[in-house]
Amino acid sequence: MHTDYLIIGSGIAGLTFAIKISAFFPDKIITIVTKSTAEETNTKYAQGGIAVVQNRTEDHFKKHIEDTLICGDGLCNVEVVEMVIKQGPKRLQELIDWGAKFDMNAKGHLDLGREGGHSKNRVVHHKDQTGFEIERAILAQANSRNNIQILDFHFALELISEKKQCFGAYVLNEKTNEILTLQSDITLLATGGIGQVYGHTTNPAVATGDGIAMAKRAGAVVRDMEFIQFHPTALYDKNATSTFLISEAVRGFGAYLRTKKGNRFMLDYDERADLASRDIVSQSIETELKKSGESCVYLDCTHLNPDDFIKHFPMIYRRCKDLGIAIEKDWIPVLPAQHYVCGGIAVDRNGKTTIDNLFACGESSRTGLHGANRLASNSLLEALVYAHNIYEFLIKSIPKNGVNGAEIMDWKLNEDCKINPQYILKTKAALQHLMQNKVGIVRHDKDLLVAKSKLQSWKNEVAAMQEQHQINKDFYELKNMIDTGILIVDQSIARTENRGGFLKT
Ligand code: FAD
Ligand code: SIN
Repeated sequence: MHTDYLIIGSGIAGLTFAIKISAFFPDKIITIVTKSTAEETNTKYAQGGIAVVQNRTEDHFKKHIEDTLICGDGLCNVEVVEMVIKQGPKRLQELIDWGAKFDMNAKGHLDLGREGGHSKNRVVHHKDQTGFEIERAILAQANSRNNIQILDFHFALELISEKKQCFGAYVLNEKTNEILTLQSDITLLATGGIGQVYGHTTNPAVATGDGIAMAKRAGAVVRDMEFIQFHPTALYDKNATSTFLISEAVRGFGAYLRTKKGNRFMLDYDERADLASRDIVSQSIETELKKSGESCVYLDCTHLNPDDFIKHFPMIYRRCKDLGIAIEKDWIPVLPAQHYVCGGIAVDRNGKTTIDNLFACGESSRTGLHGANRLASNSLLEALVYAHNIYEFLIKSIPKNGVNGAEIMDWKLNEDCKINPQYILKTKAALQHLMQNKVGIVRHDKDLLVAKSKLQSWKNEVAAMQEQHQINKDFYELKNMIDTGILIVDQSIARTENRGGFLKT
């Protein structure tokens, strides 16, 4: 099967690129494969918003650039930071033109929230469900284009590549178990994050590092994987099966962090206190919990106007209420959780990876914007800007030696025996436990070496199983999680200097 553009992933990165390229080339076929329902993405869960400087305020690009650089702790690429931030207003306007609705203030201007590390209010949002609204709008746009086909429940297994050139991907139809050979002149990896590699993450089940792992196996350069961002305030709920985020915008709105005894501890760690950048707040919480032996810290909203709170954060208010937490009088128990990967598939300004005809965009890519720690709400912005850059590059250039003439083999199906689902469940849980405990906010070389050896033994086990068994999505996700874990551990061992979100003692 052939398509002109193959996009793997239907979050903000994949859909934005698809919408743009489909409009420019109405005769070309754009195929999006996505492993769950199309809307099930990290994008859908974004709460705080998109950081974009608005001209009419006293904010300025220079300040947003400075905040991003400070947050990245000296490891951002300054040119990339300037380019991304200056494009913000145009890319945001496109989203609005595609139908995304953002909150307005009484004067009829975009309402701007604040988050950690920002020196100004500049976060454009849709209540506390910004991602849900964006995903809704861009999915509707993509669905309205005749030349975009979205194949849901289609899982990309491996890139088809040879000699550092990509020719598409092998894709598993999860409903029929058929493996398609999807040939394409251009392939875009927009597969999002890696959160499921950790036991405690804000990311949904789809975030298993697939794109990063498959790009690495194809020989692409993957960088900065040691910079895992832990969000300081995931709701602490021992009985929950998934982790719910309490947006940083709640602290931007005036909430305080407190220990169980009521101490506003962030005042002791950073002059920005509760609005210090995420790395600093998460590391401070970790220190406080080690000192006290408690399981969580608390977010105090009791001094805030409850009506305003409900207006801005209706989903958070509801979730707390359902758990018996009345934010008007109770503190919200919170704990850091894995949230974002600052590294990923290395790309240049045009989203090009180190493999010909292979591009990457969004959370799976490493552009140089985030350095050692991403500034809050810069991720959605980065995806919009790079989707645009890739589009601009591709309308002006033709793919290097397209698929024509390449000899492409179909996937060799192994029909022998089925993999024991218990093996996958057990190994996945053990991997998440290992990463959580040995590769967390504070790392030690001794632990990293233990993790490396365990991950390598699982890698060998899984490779041997693949020889003799019929593969499925769960098996492949596990394989990708192991490979992603190895990348994080190896790059953590290699790093000798603490920066931003990386702390090794
Ligand atoms: P995603 O939106 O995750 O999309 C990835 C897609 O790839 C999905 O469709 C997935 O199913 C698909 N996929 C993955 N692997 C495969 C495969 N093998 N085959 C087929 N399909 C595959 N950022 C901000 O800037 N502001 C915020 O307010 C904000 N809040 C957040 C809140 C939460 C709870 C979370 C989890 C993240 C938040 N982020 C925020 C981060 C931001 O949402 C993500 O970084 C961003 O949405 C990633 O977009 P993406 O398009 O790269 O990936
Ligand atoms: C949040 O709302 O706290 C998440 C924002 C982000 O990850 O950028």
